[in-house]
Amino acid sequence: EKAPYPHFMLKEIHEQPQVIRETLRGRIEGTEIAFPGLKLDPGFLKSLRRLYITACGTAYHAGLIGKMLIERLVRIPVEADIASEFRYRDPLLGPGDLLVVVSQSGETADTLAALREAKAKGATVLAITNVVGSSVAREAHEVLYTWAGPEIAVASTKAYVAQVVLFTLLAVYLARLRESAPPELLRELAAGLPGLSETVQAVLAREEEIAALAGARKGWEHTFFIGRGLDWAVACEGALKLKEISYIHAEAYAAGELKHGTLALVTEGVPVIALATQPALWEKMQSNIREVKARGADVLAVTGAKAAEIVAVADEAICLPPVHPLLAPVVAVVPLQLFAYYAAVARGCDVDRPRNLAKSVTVE
Ligand code: BG6
Repeated sequence: EKAPYPHFMLKEIHEQPQVIRETLRGRIEGTEIAFPGLKLDPGFLKSLRRLYITACGTAYHAGLIGKMLIERLVRIPVEADIASEFRYRDPLLGPGDLLVVVSQSGETADTLAALREAKAKGATVLAITNVVGSSVAREAHEVLYTWAGPEIAVASTKAYVAQVVLFTLLAVYLARLRESAPPELLRELAAGLPGLSETVQAVLAREEEIAALAGARKGWEHTFFIGRGLDWAVACEGALKLKEISYIHAEAYAAGELKHGTLALVTEGVPVIALATQPALWEKMQSNIREVKARGADVLAVTGAKAAEIVAVADEAICLPPVHPLLAPVVAVVPLQLFAYYAAVARGCDVDRPRNLAKSVTVE
């Protein structure tokens, strides 16, 4: 039942603080992380020389965050790929390799085909899924569940947040096991995870402000989402949400790549949503925002509370509550979900049942 919310999507966006708590439950105690029930041999995890992640749609975008966090903390190469691509290019993995498949429904045909291909090649498969007993859960060697509860809206929101939280836990867990990152950093991240629930709640409390920003832009037909690093991955998800439910064309671009071919598409009045949650990249993002501003873009930034250099150059800014940069994706995606939702509502779209999209796609 979606009441008192007008749509399941809005209800599910609002469930995210609870979903974060559920996904952490039993897996984090103080700053200690454990995965009860996970039988993967620590020796195997210690000896991994690389890791693969594959998924479709929103789950793939969570995988991009997973890749960046694991590479950053575990210091092994991680390849994240779209399942329908991975499956058909004779992937280079075999015994001794680990493939992480991510799927809300656990039934997506492309993801399942990738899982089977990896198993046939002798790799170990770990599934991150939301549905107990789903095909992906049954066929993978190991499963980590996202405890997001049933997700009804076709556009995924709470499952994505749960997937990103789980990848963060996994990255910190592996880094501890392998002693691949400074212990203080890992402690800081583990200590910051439970607080994400309240931080997301604080962003949800600004729903009206975000709704107004989206309503004012409902006439858009073409937009860019830009960011660097983790923000680029979040930009991919923000653009997908907007496309899926509002039918506004949105393209996610790595901010530094705009100048290598795309800038000509940024003309007077073209809206650009600039993600800038990573202080180490603020200076570079500032120049990317200047580049698009010089061509007349209307820039809405999603950034940190102290990002004076970003706020100074953007037309408008949504400043997020303070959060560790490596935990920021969980928080930064929330205004983008609300933004997509309110842009779609303002255009009279059927938010929960967008055209030409199914919740779970069981054909390849
Ligand atoms: C698509 C859905 O077809 O499948 C997307 O419309 C979803 O919303 C994607 O992200 C992957 O689904 P799942 O269940 O494998 O995470």
